[in-house]
Amino acid sequence: MITNNIQHIVETLKKGDIVGIPTETVYGLGANGLDEKAVQKIFRVKGRPNKNPLILHTHSIKELKKLVKHIPPIAKKLADNYWPGPLTILFDKSELVSDLITAGSKKVAIRIPSHPLFLEILKSVDFPIAAPSANPYQRISPTTAQQVHEYFQDKVPYVLEGGKCECGLESTIVGIENNKVIIYRLGGITMESLKKVHPNVELAPKDNTKVVTSGMDLKHYAPTTKLIIVDNINLFKKNHPELNIGVLTFEHHNNRFIAKEFYYQLYQLDQQNFDVIICKKFKNMGIGKALNDKLQRASYSEGAS
Ligand code: TXA
Ligand code: MG
Repeated sequence: MITNNIQHIVETLKKGDIVGIPTETVYGLGANGLDEKAVQKIFRVKGRPNKNPLILHTHSIKELKKLVKHIPPIAKKLADNYWPGPLTILFDKSELVSDLITAGSKKVAIRIPSHPLFLEILKSVDFPIAAPSANPYQRISPTTAQQVHEYFQDKVPYVLEGGKCECGLESTIVGIENNKVIIYRLGGITMESLKKVHPNVELAPKDNTKVVTSGMDLKHYAPTTKLIIVDNINLFKKNHPELNIGVLTFEHHNNRFIAKEFYYQLYQLDQQNFDVIICKKFKNMGIGKALNDKLQRASYSEGAS
């Protein structure tokens, strides 16, 4: 059920149940991150394998300190620049964080989100909130409360109405290794921006035998309709008169606007029973790199070259 009442959300979380929560990136499926039973519900309802770890959300550096062994100076610099906001940082986990959250890894992924309602929830409870994107495993991430409700119906007792997500793409995930910032998932914070804070930034190698994060799976964020990346929309239409074609297009807008609309438009097109959805690649700079990465993964089909 979609609600405007934040108390419903706080009480449900305290009871050990799961809720839909707006964030500035995408909607999350949240639970008490220190309650293993509650966290198990996230995996179950999302249909997500336990080998994929979850992000913990908190509201302050003071709370963060309880969840990590130490805060490396580079992580502190990133936190000072981007938090609250769409950056997730990997830290060495403290004893408080269970292996269920990290899927057995010694690293835990943490972020302080900027959505005012999410911050209000985090300040009303005395635990971090574990939250993956609120979509069934490998489906499109939701950017409205309505989408979360459509995906899960009464399997999720409450979804908090928080408007359409401002950023519209998931957080960028980084780790710190040998004085380098390694990007594991491109998202709301661009590589160019990170380089201004710490010049030594690298993309994690795209080696699908060593998938660190589920956001790195080749097939991800996928619509149920086949998605094809094309060079020329009109030419594709002309060459395929037999197909009922949905076009994902954002002419005349900047990449920030496109990021906000991308998953939303894809989700809407996916509801309309097209034979295929087609889309052109985005300008490969700034947030366009993250968009192209999502597009590539959403369009992946087995056997394709
Ligand atoms: O913007 C976001 O990050 C949203 C909102 C709700 O905060 N959350 C989100 O969560 O996108 P999720 O679970 O859909 O994607 C988180 C990614 C996954 O690919 C997961 O594998 C990775 O983060 N991850 C989480 N913990 C990790 C860890 N300890 N080590 C490596 N990767 C981790
Ligand atoms: Mg996700």
